[in-house]
Amino acid sequence: MKELIKEGEHMCNCDCEYIDEIMMEESYRLPLIGDDAPEFVAKTTNGEVNFPADYKGKWVILFSHPADFTPVCTTEFMTFASMQDEFKALNTELIGLSIDSVYSHIAWIKKMEELEFNGMKNTKVTFPIIDDLSMEVATKYGMIQPNVSTTSAVRAVFIIDPKGVIRTILYYPASTGRNFAEIKRIIEALQKADKDSIATPANWQPGEPVIVPPADTTAEARKRVDEGSNEQKEVKDWFMVVKK
Ligand code: BEZ
Repeated sequence: MKELIKEGEHMCNCDCEYIDEIMMEESYRLPLIGDDAPEFVAKTTNGEVNFPADYKGKWVILFSHPADFTPVCTTEFMTFASMQDEFKALNTELIGLSIDSVYSHIAWIKKMEELEFNGMKNTKVTFPIIDDLSMEVATKYGMIQPNVSTTSAVRAVFIIDPKGVIRTILYYPASTGRNFAEIKRIIEALQKADKDSIATPANWQPGEPVIVPPADTTAEARKRVDEGSNEQKEVKDWFMVVKK
């Protein structure tokens, strides 16, 4: 694992400006929503992946798990695998990652085909799982959180859009399996927001009313109130318009 070096932390008699520049390049800050997804080339169960270039034009869920052959992770992988077609229908690809070898991933995939959980059986994980023994990808994506573990990843989820921009980041503790229906709902909400320039309210589900972004001028706020509600929209207040 690369040392996480804070800017200006080194002490020497060398060309400090140049070293600081390298250190800034070498040290990773946690990626944030709106950032370009950090690039990497990695070995996976489906061969080499050059990310995000190989996924241009697709939505991606890049997610990490603490370790292969652990019970919660196994339920998560079986659930994700059983939803692969639902994600494909949303132009969305899945990529898993843990600090394990590709050989361990392959053996675990085979084992999951034999297991039964919550009605799922003969579950085939066909999406790639990254071999990240070097921890390079996990480090770039802030998946190693040292107060939890310095040798395994937390349960992180990065939703990356077709332009390679990070749109959602979720972190879960090791003891809590993820809610995959919620992850799917976020993709649906992001796609809807991008398509129709709207936002989605709490607990929104596809087909339900959406929110018109708030007015940002006095004139627009007044216009909305004056126009009032109609069959398509309900003006609850100047800042809150709900649309079918
Ligand atoms: C699990 O996947 O079961 C697990 C992994 C790490 C810590 C605790 C549980």
